[in-house]
Amino acid sequence: ALISMRQLLDHAAEHGYGVPAFNVNNQEQMRAIMEAADKTNSPVIVQGSAGARAYAGAPFIRHMILAAVEEWPHIPVVMHQDHGTSPGVCQRSIQLGFSSVMMDGSLLSDGKTPSSYEYNVEVTRKTVEMAHACGVSVEGELGVLGSLETGEAGEEDGIGAEGKLTTEQMLTNPEEAADFVNKTHVDALAIACGTSHGAYKFTRPPTDDILAIDRIKAIHARIPNTHLVMHGSSSVPQEWLEIINQYGGEIPETYGVPVEQIIEGIKFGVRKVNIDTDLRLASTGAVRRHLALNPANFDPRKFLAAATQAMTDICISRYESFGTAGQA
Ligand code: G3H
Ligand code: 13P
Ligand code: NA
Ligand code: ZN
Repeated sequence: ALISMRQLLDHAAEHGYGVPAFNVNNQEQMRAIMEAADKTNSPVIVQGSAGARAYAGAPFIRHMILAAVEEWPHIPVVMHQDHGTSPGVCQRSIQLGFSSVMMDGSLLSDGKTPSSYEYNVEVTRKTVEMAHACGVSVEGELGVLGSLETGEAGEEDGIGAEGKLTTEQMLTNPEEAADFVNKTHVDALAIACGTSHGAYKFTRPPTDDILAIDRIKAIHARIPNTHLVMHGSSSVPQEWLEIINQYGGEIPETYGVPVEQIIEGIKFGVRKVNIDTDLRLASTGAVRRHLALNPANFDPRKFLAAATQAMTDICISRYESFGTAGQA
């Protein structure tokens, strides 16, 4: 059944678990997420980004999620719109039947320029007013995602700030977070703690100077009743990088957010954990390997099934690690 994000995250807080929020662009990702949820009895958050809507079209994203609800009626599913750049974008998703939207007011509506605090409060407050009237949940974001190593958002073609960021911008201020939640009434708050979107988060296994889990603890201490969201939470599995590179890929040395650090965050209020890149890496590795080992194959179902299996394994592993398993 389709449920709102608020319902799910309240349950997660009560029972002390986190929920991975996987991005969905195609049927194989959708199937992998649901098969993993079915195997582990986990509730699901699936999210469509602007990139996903540009790739598949909003109606296809919507109907893929509705198809999943129809095929697995016993699994609770949140249909979430990721990184909305304006109240208008969120309004359109509400109209399409999404049960949750993100109003990312940390950037202006160009999705690139860091905004003022006042702007962020205003667009988020407006979105909450509209969404709550429709029974839809809202995620806001305070702080700008970016690498504490380089001061850059990192993401090449997706959503992300342009130009150099200051440390202050890249670490959410706990006092400001309290004021923001108070003024906007968001259901969940995405915070910045040194993670960034994409595969190139850290040039070395992260230590606490570049991945500030302590900042999450400080925010949680100030607003213990607010559900926190970690974006840029792919772990960038080294084994998949090796497979990709073994079969013709060229991905330089890079590191993601270790699962143990996410688990630490979940102990301190993190309830939604955004993951896109890990499924991209696993499916790319699986397809490269399948085609290299089966050069005569020309049936896409065969290599796409390999991709689906690889993604399913990642999803199962995250559901189990985050304590989502058994909570459906
Ligand atoms: O928000 C970041 C997600 O990884 C989505 O990326 O815009 O390329 O679909 P995308
Ligand atoms: P990753 O790029 O780390 O998977 O993050 C995805 C994300 O935050 C989507 O909003
Ligand atoms: Na989101
Ligand atoms: Zn994100």
